[in-house]
Amino acid sequence: MAGPWITELEIRTVEDAMRNGWYERAYWYCEAFQVEFAKYHNRRYALMTPNCTTAIHLLLTALGVEEGDEVIVPECTWIASAAPINYLRATPVFCDIDPENWCLDPQSVAQAITPRTKAIIAVDLFGNMPLMNELVTLAEQHGIHLIEDSAEALGSSYHGVRAGRFGVGSVFSFHRTKTLVTGEGGMLLLDDDKLFDRCSVLRDHGRRPGTTTYLNEEVTYKYMPFNVQAAIGYAQFQRLDELVGKKRWIWQCYKERLADIGGLTFNAEPNGVLNSVWITALVFDPSHGLGKAEAMKRLSDLGIPSRPFFYPLSSLPAYPGAGVTYRSRNPHAYDISSRGINLPGALNLTESQIDEVCDGIRKILRP
Ligand SMILES: Cc1ncc(COP(=O)(O)O)c(C=O)c1O
Repeated sequence: MAGPWITELEIRTVEDAMRNGWYERAYWYCEAFQVEFAKYHNRRYALMTPNCTTAIHLLLTALGVEEGDEVIVPECTWIASAAPINYLRATPVFCDIDPENWCLDPQSVAQAITPRTKAIIAVDLFGNMPLMNELVTLAEQHGIHLIEDSAEALGSSYHGVRAGRFGVGSVFSFHRTKTLVTGEGGMLLLDDDKLFDRCSVLRDHGRRPGTTTYLNEEVTYKYMPFNVQAAIGYAQFQRLDELVGKKRWIWQCYKERLADIGGLTFNAEPNGVLNSVWITALVFDPSHGLGKAEAMKRLSDLGIPSRPFFYPLSSLPAYPGAGVTYRSRNPHAYDISSRGINLPGALNLTESQIDEVCDGIRKILRP
């Protein structure tokens, strides 16, 4: 279903980190990876973190998000986009998704902004990009921070600007299921000096980087990266084009092989967007009469793995009762999610395995 593409380069690099990455070189790969990652995204600063969830938590904390604040997130995303809002006892406000790109819909955001709104987290879902110009304008007009959750979009771009370049800060995930993996791992990108300084202190128990005293300035988090983890990321990053190329190839294969079946919708690539397609999603037409649970069950009976399109966050047991408010406010999220699944997207997928999945999809549509 999901998994990385590891070559001798990653193995050699990790071996080097294991043999030499201690003492004065204990953060060598963390620093090298951060510098290259920031440069690639045309950002001034990068901070590697244990995962992407902690990167979001760091940034929201540094922006002063606290109890009583509201933070806007799209309904359809992994819960990690929203959970750090709850960690800080602020309130996530769920907005609808755009029916074409499946990302945060600016119109829904405009209707949800209140005097308590502190930030908007725009998620680049499955590698696609939201209508960024509209979101940037909305955030500026209302004096709200825009955060780009690019966890799933490394290698995507929007009108020539890389995913991760938008807003006050952006975050990436290197979870073992992502395009670039470190097992667990994340990155926070920033431009502002003060915000970078604040996040650096928050990341290491209230210590300023490079401080040799043990006089902690305040009680904060411990979200430091590990050199061996960064070594995997550093090596994988040299191969980014190859990794994204394979993801896009998988998506193209599914689309070509199933092109003759009417009513199937795959990840879009709107004009001006380069979609790095972390995972291929397939949304059935209402006329197929196939909900996602039934589709997944029928595929599983054929031995084919799949995953559900993200459930609307407000429908999850984690947010009890929220669906009562949000179901009617966010109709696209509830509708598209109910008909959508993710297809296998592992980076070791072969053409014949893709053929099997496609045969399976034909079978479940004519059981
Ligand atoms: C959109 C999105 N945001 C955040 C995360 C959190 O990433 P991590 O698992 O590295 O904490 C993920 C992935 O898992 C994600 O898909």
